[in-house]
Amino acid sequence: MFAFQLATLFAGISLASPLRRGYGNSSLLPPLRFTSNGTFQISIFNDLHFGENAWDTWGPQQDINSVKQLVVLNGDLITGENAYLENATVKIDQIVAPLLARGLTWASTYGNHDSQYNLSRHAILQREHRWPNNARTQQMVFGNESGVSNYYLPVYPSHPAAGGSEEEPCLLLWSFDSRGGFYFQQQNASGAHIGQPDWVDQSVVDWFEATKRDLTRKYRKAIPSLAFVHIPTNASQAAQMGPGIDPSRQPGINDDYPDLAQQAQGWCEDGSNGPDCVYGGQDIPFMRALTSTPGLMAVFSGHDHRDTWCYKWDSLLPGMNVRGNGVNLCFGQHSGYGGYGNWIRGSRQVLVTEAMLRQREVETWIRLEKGGGVVGGVSLNGTYGEDVYPVTPDRMTNCPTCNYSVITNMPGTK
Ligand SMILES: *[C@@H]1O[C@H](CO)[C@@H](O)[C@H](O)[C@H]1NC(C)=O
Ligand SMILES: *[C@@H]1O[C@H](CO)[C@@H](O)[C@H](O)[C@H]1NC(C)=O
Ligand SMILES: *[C@@H]1O[C@H](CO)[C@@H](O)[C@H](O)[C@H]1NC(C)=O
Ligand SMILES: *[C@@H]1O[C@H](CO)[C@@H](O)[C@H](O)[C@H]1NC(C)=O
Ligand SMILES: *[C@@H]1O[C@H](CO)[C@@H](O)[C@H](O)[C@H]1NC(C)=O
Ligand SMILES: *[C@@H]1O[C@H](CO)[C@@H](O)[C@H](O)[C@H]1NC(C)=O
Ligand SMILES: *[C@@H]1O[C@H](CO)[C@@H](O)[C@H](O)[C@H]1NC(C)=O
Ligand SMILES: *[C@@H]1O[C@H](CO)[C@@H](O)[C@H](O)[C@H]1NC(C)=O
Ligand SMILES: *[C@@H]1O[C@H](CO)[C@@H](O)[C@H](O)[C@H]1NC(C)=O
Repeated sequence: MFAFQLATLFAGISLASPLRRGYGNSSLLPPLRFTSNGTFQISIFNDLHFGENAWDTWGPQQDINSVKQLVVLNGDLITGENAYLENATVKIDQIVAPLLARGLTWASTYGNHDSQYNLSRHAILQREHRWPNNARTQQMVFGNESGVSNYYLPVYPSHPAAGGSEEEPCLLLWSFDSRGGFYFQQQNASGAHIGQPDWVDQSVVDWFEATKRDLTRKYRKAIPSLAFVHIPTNASQAAQMGPGIDPSRQPGINDDYPDLAQQAQGWCEDGSNGPDCVYGGQDIPFMRALTSTPGLMAVFSGHDHRDTWCYKWDSLLPGMNVRGNGVNLCFGQHSGYGGYGNWIRGSRQVLVTEAMLRQREVETWIRLEKGGGVVGGVSLNGTYGEDVYPVTPDRMTNCPTCNYSVITNMPGTK
């Protein structure tokens, strides 16, 4: 009863707020731009899971010392299962403190643990925007079932256009909300929390298609892009189960095996989520949209803490009816001290240069916390998947007998 009244009160506040529509509009921030030497670098931190461990530490904090342009928080910022209604989003302040200290801007996508009975995605967005000069997270789709962190950010070339003519972005960063977890303050008649679907909703796919069409018409070309979504699609599982992950050609840890967790996991085709539901296939429209996006170079996910590889999806994988168009599907590295698994913490770095953009190439590697080394450095170029790279050692964290000798496998190092 108490919870019900509180929920009603909160709903009232959020509806009355003039910021509800377009909330998180970051147009006050200077746009993202390639540096003067033509580079753009992103650090991805996924699965921080604040609120789970007593100490709530950041894991690989030293990574952000080398970030130049943008930090992406790719889902499961908070473990909302442990949240109290009255202060559920306070962990956001701790999460962003090291970013604020370094004057960095960030952009989030939310994960399944970011929606729980006492924690809502809307509340996280609102909390992030206590720092309007740093938070680039937005909401651009407003359907009931759309989730929140669906938006895109344009990135502009190093040198502003001459003569004040309108600038054209040279790179787009898409964020998609794969939802999951539980609806905020909702219970059924027997008091159980109500599960939220865990795939990118059709309303978001529709918005993506329409926005792509508008942008292509406006700029008369397909702008190269990268995408971020917390939960990977079934294509990642099909790659893992079908051709398989080769440690030399797709370097990375592959220990969420068999059957990495994908979108629509735990749901049936009819939209129910009973214990017998394994995978409902509701991510097919999203997969079709991704594979029909010219210029989309890579999609970055988290969620599966023990998978850290990239796979070039360029074929019809066994069991699938959506054919890959060459888009790279990448995991990051578990960055937080909360959440399952004790594999070494790290964060995925992504480097694009203006010259690489013309070839639709991206370089990426994983910076490790312990030892500060670099593993899994690869060039996501035309021959990724055939090129041979050093194998990523399967290391653990917080282990007195573990080998933390420094490795440096940057892209191009053989
Ligand atoms: C953000 O605000 C600007 C200026 O008010 C407006 O033109 C733009 O459409 C808004 N964008 C979104 C996504 O709401
Ligand atoms: C120029 O690019 C390199 C990466 O190619 C980077 O390490 C360096 O910091 C960049 N310099 C500036 C001023 O951004
Ligand atoms: C939600 O927050 C309330 C108020 O702090 C707390 O009493 C309750 O235990 C929490 N419930 C859950 C399921 O976390
Ligand atoms: C959040 O609320 C709970 C319950 O009221 C309290 O025990 C806890 O100390 C609070 N945490 C913070 C960081 O304020
Ligand atoms: C959307 O959610 C609100 C509040 O829960 C509800 O009143 C409304 O009927 C829903 N609309 C649709 C189209 O489902
Ligand atoms: C509430 O949900 C739980 C867990 O899904 C289920 O076991 C229970 O039957 C549901 N109760 C009602 C009244 O729907
Ligand atoms: C999902 O991937 C599995 C392989 O792990 C495959 O057997 C299944 O047919 C795929 N389903 C769809 C709808 O793509
Ligand atoms: C530690 O790891 C490095 C790099 O993988 C390896 O060359 C070295 O042999 C390892 N040392 C031990 C003691 O296992
Ligand atoms: C892709 O990058 C790898 C590693 O740097 C290199 O060996 C290979 O020749 C490149 N392929 C193309 C098509 O540029």
